[in-house]
Amino acid sequence: MLYRQKFDTFIRIYDDIGYICSKKDYGDRVVDQSGAVFLSALSRRAQSIEELTGTIAAKFVNVDKDALQHDVVEFYAMLEEDGFVISGETEAALDAKDKRFSYSDIEPKTIKKDFTPPVKRSDVSTQTYLDEHFKGKPHLTSLQIELTSRCNERCVHCYIPHENKLTDIEDALFYDVLEQCKALGLLNLTLSGGEPMLHRHFIDYLRKAQEYDFSINVLSNLTLLNDDIVKELKANRLSSVQVSLYSMKPEVHDAITMVKGSFYKTRDAILKLIDNDIPLQISCPTMKQNKTDFVDVINWANEHKVRAITDYIIMARYDHSTENLDNRLSLNEVEDVMNDIVNNDEDYKHSLSEADFTTLSTRDDSEDIVCGICVSSICMVANGAVYPCPGWQDCILGTLKEQSLQQIWEKSPKVQQLRNIRKKDFPQCRQCEDRLFCAMCMVRNANENAEGDPLKINTHFCKVAALNKRIAIEWKTKIEQNK
Ligand SMILES: C[S@@+](CC[C@H](N)C(=O)[O-])C[C@H]1O[C@@H](n2cnc3c(N)ncnc32)[C@H](O)[C@@H]1O
Ligand code: SF4
Ligand code: SF4
Repeated sequence: MLYRQKFDTFIRIYDDIGYICSKKDYGDRVVDQSGAVFLSALSRRAQSIEELTGTIAAKFVNVDKDALQHDVVEFYAMLEEDGFVISGETEAALDAKDKRFSYSDIEPKTIKKDFTPPVKRSDVSTQTYLDEHFKGKPHLTSLQIELTSRCNERCVHCYIPHENKLTDIEDALFYDVLEQCKALGLLNLTLSGGEPMLHRHFIDYLRKAQEYDFSINVLSNLTLLNDDIVKELKANRLSSVQVSLYSMKPEVHDAITMVKGSFYKTRDAILKLIDNDIPLQISCPTMKQNKTDFVDVINWANEHKVRAITDYIIMARYDHSTENLDNRLSLNEVEDVMNDIVNNDEDYKHSLSEADFTTLSTRDDSEDIVCGICVSSICMVANGAVYPCPGWQDCILGTLKEQSLQQIWEKSPKVQQLRNIRKKDFPQCRQCEDRLFCAMCMVRNANENAEGDPLKINTHFCKVAALNKRIAIEWKTKIEQNK
């Protein structure tokens, strides 16, 4: 029998734990001890069970090979049942079973949106497990690279000041960073901008990143999509393209991007990617201009079986100029948007109906990290500066023109400082009754604070959290009364 990891899965070993994820089904698993050793033997190359057992046996002392093979077969059968691995008698049989992402295979999100694995293997979510693990042993798993700060749009809300949209990454720097990422065992590589497709070597970069076996995400407005890019995206083991679409009304979308004709270019490019079975996610930040339009975007996305996400808290620019916040929704407008979400978004309704607020609110989260910045993720811009999170570009942690990524990750004092921030470092949040409903975020605090202090809570979040709580509880109470 031959075994191989599936086309859309990725495997990483972090110290003593193994991690496998499927970018097609959004499932993932963490295994430890012998499971991590069994996982580490698998690859994209088909291997017989004898070859795999031989590789694994070399890592144990005095092991009974028959008993080991039995355990290995059982372990791979479990991974196959969960959709990560395939087995077959021949390579052709493996190819036939290894179905790639296709829009014709997925049900519309409005009908089914449940990505829980068919068999539940653990009570703790993978993310919770990894957060806990990385808190003690930080490991760089995700890097976002801004290939260029240049952009062909001038979005009214953009966190990058328009006058700073000037620089392309140099080839030598990009290829050197990829090499370093491989050595560090990076999993997720996001290529963003500015507009990444403006970089004249975008296709070469994509191809190289694929050779390193990273799970690649591209963030783009897609207005520059052409046949060569589509061809490369299709050939690439791409996890997702995230595209920004602000309205289904051309004049509203174009008023946000400030570029006439941009709506049709973006919409047509989305349809082209769907035709080519390239996995997509639509991002629709909501602001004054499109406050009544995002439901149309979500419905259009659902009809085309594409995930769509919205965001009603626009952040300030990274140079702390806050003019872009003139477009941010007022609290009354946020309330309308929240009501629309709670009545239309299947994901959100599902998570609300499942949530047990009483148990969650009594949990002591004081030692939890706020998010993964500097614990598992980091970003870099075209000039080599490294910073914690998209949008926090004035918080420079080091520069790759002078130091290696590993040196910055392990030695930068600012990285250490941010890595050690815990929820308890926000004392006013400890007793807050709205904290379960709060999307407080350090970059958003920092950009809106004149001194750039990530710990100075922006009260806009508190007001939004209180609203969010009221609307969620009202919805849940109504549903439970009607049961
Ligand atoms: C900075 S853009 C880069 C990729 C590409 N140019 C695009 O627009 O999709 C990435 C995402 O950030 C969002 N974004 C930009 N400025 C923002 C802000 N101030 N607050 C929240 N999201 C913002 C954009 O709408 C887009 O969805
Ligand atoms: S949001 Fe994206 S497309 Fe719009 S100006 Fe910013 S970088 Fe350009
Ligand atoms: S609502 Fe304000 S005080 Fe409460 S958790 Fe959020 S940021 Fe902290």
